[in-house]
Amino acid sequence: MVKPAAKPGELVTLLDYLRYAVSRFNEAELVFAHGTTDPVAEAVFLVTGALHLEPEQFDGFAQARVTRTEAAKLLGLIEQRVRTRKPAAYLLNKIYMRGLPFYVDERVIVPRSFIGEILDTHFSGESEMPLIDDPGSVSRVLDLCTGSGCLAILAAQTFYNASVEAVDISKDALAVAAKNVADYGLEDRIALHRGNLFAPLGDARYDLIISNPPYVDAEGMSSLPPECRHEPKLAFDGGRDGIDIVRRIVSEAGAHLTPQGGLLCEVGRCREAVEDAFPMLPLLWLDTEDSEGEVFWVGAQDLR
Ligand SMILES: C[S@@+](CC[C@H](N)C(=O)[O-])C[C@H]1O[C@@H](n2cnc3c(N)ncnc32)[C@H](O)[C@@H]1O
Repeated sequence: MVKPAAKPGELVTLLDYLRYAVSRFNEAELVFAHGTTDPVAEAVFLVTGALHLEPEQFDGFAQARVTRTEAAKLLGLIEQRVRTRKPAAYLLNKIYMRGLPFYVDERVIVPRSFIGEILDTHFSGESEMPLIDDPGSVSRVLDLCTGSGCLAILAAQTFYNASVEAVDISKDALAVAAKNVADYGLEDRIALHRGNLFAPLGDARYDLIISNPPYVDAEGMSSLPPECRHEPKLAFDGGRDGIDIVRRIVSEAGAHLTPQGGLLCEVGRCREAVEDAFPMLPLLWLDTEDSEGEVFWVGAQDLR
C-alpha cells in the first residue's frame, strides 16, 4: 500500500521536516552511501540543500518555520528520495567532498573517494607522515578515471604549483568535470582528456598519479543497491575479480612517473586480489576515518 505523504502545513519547523524525512527513510530502508552514512545526515543534507543552506547551518535554523512553497519543495524531495531511490546528491545536483561543493548529475558517479582525505592527511604541508615532502615541489599530477573531476580539483588545491591532467573514457563524465573545473576557475591548471587510461597522454610523466577507478567485482555488480543503479555502470564495473582496470593502471604507471613520483590508487574491497596479482610490489595501504586498506601507495622506483 502506498501511504500518503505529509501535507504542507502538517509539519511546521525545519526540525519537523528533518524528523519526518528520517522516519520515511528508515521505513523505506534506504541505503546511505553517497556522501552520508546514516538517515539523519542524509536528511540534514537534503533539507538544508533544498533551502540553499549548508548542512552545518541546520542547528541554527532547526526551530525556523518554513513557508508553504518551501514545505512543498521539501516534501517533494523527501518523496522522490524514497520512491525513486535516487541518491540525494542527484536530487540536489550537489555533493560535498572535503567540505567543498561539486556539481553532480546522473552522468557521473556521486564522489565519495577516500583519496580526498588522503590528499589532506598524507600530502598537504601539515601531514605527520608525508608521502611527498613538499607539496609545492609537485609540478605534474595525473588523475585517471576522473569522473566529476573532484579529485583533480582537490589535487590542484593540495599541489598548488602543479598542472593537473585528468582522464576519463566517458564523454558525459567529462562534461560534468568541465563544469566543476570552470566553477572553481581552474581551467588554466586542469586539462581534461577523453580516452582509455593512459592512451591520450603519449609518453608524458607525472610526479603523482591518483586514481579511483572502477573496482566492483562481478558478484558486487549483481547486488548493487537501488541507489547505485542510478549511477553509470562504467564507474563501477571492474570485471570478474574487480581489478581489470587496476591491473592495467599498476602495470602501466611506471612508464608515466618521474623517478621520485608515486601512484595512489583506490581499490575498495579488492586488496587481496591486488596483492595476489602483484605479490612482489611493496604496497603501502593507507587508512582513513571510514576505510581500512582500500587505498594503496606505491613509489615509482618499485614500479619500474
Ligand atoms: C569510480 S569512478 C571515479 C570518479 C571520480 N574519480 C571519483 O572519485 O568520484 C570511475 C570513473 O572511471 C571512468 N572509467 C572507466 N573505465 C575507464 C577507462 N578505461 N579509462 C578511463 N576512464 C575510465 C568512468 O567513466 C568513471 O567516471
